[in-house]
Amino acid sequence: MQQLRVPDIGDYKNIPVIEVLIQAGDVVDVEQSLITLESDKATMDVPSTSAGTIREVLLKPGDVVSMGSVIAHIEFAGAGAHATAAPVAEEKRSSGAGSAEVAPHSDLMLQVPLAEANAAAVTSAASTQSIAVAAQPDTGAQLAPERSTDVAAGPSVRKLARELGVALADVKPGGRNGRVLREDVLAHAKTVLARPVSSSAPAAAGSGGLELLPWPEIDFAKFGPVERSPLSRIKRISGANLHRNWVRIPHVTNFDQTDITELEALRVTLNREAREGTAKVTLLAFLIKACVSALQRFPQFNVSLDGQDVVQKRYFHIGFAADTPNGLVVPVIRDADRKGVAAIATEMAELAQTARAGKLAPAQMQGGCMSISSLGGIGGTHFTPIINAPEVAILGVGKAGTKPMWNGSAFEPRLILPLSLSWDHRAVDGAEAGRFLAYLATLMTDFRRALL
Ligand code: COA
Repeated sequence: MQQLRVPDIGDYKNIPVIEVLIQAGDVVDVEQSLITLESDKATMDVPSTSAGTIREVLLKPGDVVSMGSVIAHIEFAGAGAHATAAPVAEEKRSSGAGSAEVAPHSDLMLQVPLAEANAAAVTSAASTQSIAVAAQPDTGAQLAPERSTDVAAGPSVRKLARELGVALADVKPGGRNGRVLREDVLAHAKTVLARPVSSSAPAAAGSGGLELLPWPEIDFAKFGPVERSPLSRIKRISGANLHRNWVRIPHVTNFDQTDITELEALRVTLNREAREGTAKVTLLAFLIKACVSALQRFPQFNVSLDGQDVVQKRYFHIGFAADTPNGLVVPVIRDADRKGVAAIATEMAELAQTARAGKLAPAQMQGGCMSISSLGGIGGTHFTPIINAPEVAILGVGKAGTKPMWNGSAFEPRLILPLSLSWDHRAVDGAEAGRFLAYLATLMTDFRRALL
């Protein structure tokens, strides 16, 4: 018999237990959620680090816990009963982490409320802390989170219901003795989502529902061979954020182009003259600097919307989209106004490398004022990037190419960089966006103007 304890949960102390997902007699697997904690900032599922049978549960909803609090007593599964889980528990015991049941911080699933989550707050499974941003469907409050423990359902079913925002009490049980099964929750969610949004939905949810058709259910195997695999963790998290931002923000995208012939010549010279060991000066580093100047000149872009308030930022942190093997992440260069182009290029290279290794900490992806998504090294001209809420603008950068440009008396070959600016029409107006992008384009053509 062993104790299952609350693992290292960072700075959190005396956190209320809002849900106990196990009861005596339950057979649990490694990673299965035991309890749910809720601080004023986040809800956290505490997973089991051992497989076995729960003999006694020592917590109830309303209790407060900190690191080390005992959750339950567990009797380990017999050899072979959980052939894959047992070695994991063994490994943790021998890793010297104290009690065998104390999970490392990385085993926690934090669910950050939407208001705080931003698309940058994504991380890979390999990073030191896992943050899952809960996607909450805006379906006219037809789906409500379930907190009650009155309904008979297993922990994994409760977890699924919570993730889908399904109220367990509303689900028709299909199991013995009125037990709600996984299939029941899924069937309920499908039915609710397929239902047109009622015109009597609360005003806060908006008067006009989207009234979308249900997502098509297709057996792709009918058409040819297929393979099915789960989306990567980053794609799942960033996808939910991108979807919310796409649906909730009234995006407009302006397109422009800028002549970077001189700037590119300077960049090439700088890199040729650079001392060994220094990072390559990149076009993106210049763009970050240009964005800072544009935000300083047009502070209405350096804001976030918070309900009916506008939060004006007096700092200049710029995010940049980085493509990693597991999906898109957006590391942030902090205080870019206080850094030179070379320092920004060095930091970007380090952050991009950390991102590709899947080791970015959540803090390295938060606090951005605006973001840049550059596909310049890959190809394409203009595109419509999705705003990284709670920012209100994002710059899309295409691939520069040599074009014949009319100089007043003749065509001459110039290096032209395509720019796309998506902006939140609730925060800024079209004329302001036009000026912002025109100014940015002017800076890239003649960077001396950034000094004015
Ligand atoms: N036009 C033409 N060429 C460009 C360019 C542009 N706008 N931007 C970069 N390049 C060239 C560079 O000159 C460099 O060529 P070189 O090796 O011959 O010098 C090459 O492309 C690579 O560029 P580099 O400057 O090293 O990288 P970067 O700064 O362009 O990009 C990242 C760094 C991290 C942003 C990039 O690797 C990345 O992940 N991009 C994808 C972002 C993404 O997925 N966005 C989509 C989000 S929806």
